[in-house]
Amino acid sequence: MTTAPAVSAARDTVAIRSQNLCRHYRMGETLIRAVDGVSLEVRAGEFVALLGSSGSGKSSVLNLIAGLDRPTSGSVVVQERDLAQLSREELAKYRLHVVGMVFQSFNLIPSMTLQENVELPLRFAEVDRSRRQTLARDALERVGLRARMEHRPSELSGGEQQRAALARALINRPQLLLADEPTGNLDSHTGTEILDMVREFNRELGMTVVMVTHERALAERYAERMIFLADGKLIDDRPNAAAALDLRAEGGES
Ligand SMILES: Nc1ncnc2c1ncn2[C@@H]1O[C@H](COP(=O)(O)OP(=O)(O)OP(=O)(O)O)[C@@H](O)[C@H]1O
Ligand SMILES: [Mg+2]
Repeated sequence: MTTAPAVSAARDTVAIRSQNLCRHYRMGETLIRAVDGVSLEVRAGEFVALLGSSGSGKSSVLNLIAGLDRPTSGSVVVQERDLAQLSREELAKYRLHVVGMVFQSFNLIPSMTLQENVELPLRFAEVDRSRRQTLARDALERVGLRARMEHRPSELSGGEQQRAALARALINRPQLLLADEPTGNLDSHTGTEILDMVREFNRELGMTVVMVTHERALAERYAERMIFLADGKLIDDRPNAAAALDLRAEGGES
């Protein structure tokens, strides 16, 4: 990756603010309140975990922040953009330039090599070919996959695929990384390796991270703050002293 800082935003600026955010689905007679009045704030550069049982609305909230879905009511403002007010084109640009996403199932394109997969967002951003190749190579190097660049996803382990997905998510140097159960398909050792990398990007690039997880232990290890959802509602929002202490300890080294 290049040396230019991804984010100059200070830690005390608000990266994400949702107010009374709702996403309701009508299914025949019933109304499903997937997200039901969630108000939250995430500061720039923060690493936040979104927790809650299955069906509590975690992915729905993340998709609204990602601009993959629109609220039924309420607002979500990211880096001063009110997402509900953006046109389709503006939302596509927002997704391309501001947000990087990783998913439980990696979502790499099977017919493409890792290099091509990682380059894809740069193609959408109309970056020229030689620059694309350089950036993709650097990004893959950064996640330890330089030697596997010409391989297709099916030739890689789950951990390697998730590392490639991470390289792809970060290639446009997004200010915001959104991860939906990024370690859900990985063994615990490999999952830890992935999250170590995410934490490195969070700290080095000042990138804001929102990670959805079922696993309390992972949230406690990596996130500075834990937000709990139940039935589409925010039920708890608490700082995580352990990860914050770890942050200060590591800041003192090297
Ligand atoms: N497109 C949809 N149409 C109808 N209901 C939906 C839709 N998407 C999600 N829901 C419902 O909204 C609720 C929240 O779903 P969501 O996927 O956000 O949960 P989650 O917390 O991510 O769960 P999991 O941990 O299982 O991934 C669930 O009851 C789900 O069935
Ligand atoms: Mg989910």
